[in-house]
Amino acid sequence: MNVVTKTEILTAPVGALAAGRRAEIIAELNTNLAYLTDLHVSAKQAHWNVHGPNFVGLHGLFDTITFAARDYADLVAERVLALRGTAHGTIADVASMEEIRPFPTDEHGWEELTRAVRDRLITAAERMRLSATSTDDEQVTQDIYIEVIRGLEKWAWMLEAHLS
Ligand SMILES: [Fe+2]
Repeated sequence: MNVVTKTEILTAPVGALAAGRRAEIIAELNTNLAYLTDLHVSAKQAHWNVHGPNFVGLHGLFDTITFAARDYADLVAERVLALRGTAHGTIADVASMEEIRPFPTDEHGWEELTRAVRDRLITAAERMRLSATSTDDEQVTQDIYIEVIRGLEKWAWMLEAHLS
């Protein structure tokens, strides 16, 4: 069997990027993948548990955000592989990141859940803006970040509209 090692993957040529710089970009993509995986499961948690007068609208919107977050995670993870890295997108990978705070799992209130998901959208967008501004040397990855930020900020606005 022909086993491809991690080192061989990382040293395969991709564009003009040096392997060291590529490893940094891959690590940053994996950090953002964790944020998006967390957003995916958190929005689903809100979809299941939400109660209140806006139930139908929020139940549906939380599910829409769940699927969008999964699509964004897929974009980011597959960029990792295009750069010949390894995607780290498990729940355990998310749990190992101290900078991602636990979601309020016993919450049912529509306002609390709407704020909790909105805050996660904003946090993920801010984290990704940092990545985007430091990726001028890798514009394909930067373009993915910009696309995802656009979506995250749109969903944050839609949740905000329920609160105002
Ligand atoms: Fe459902």
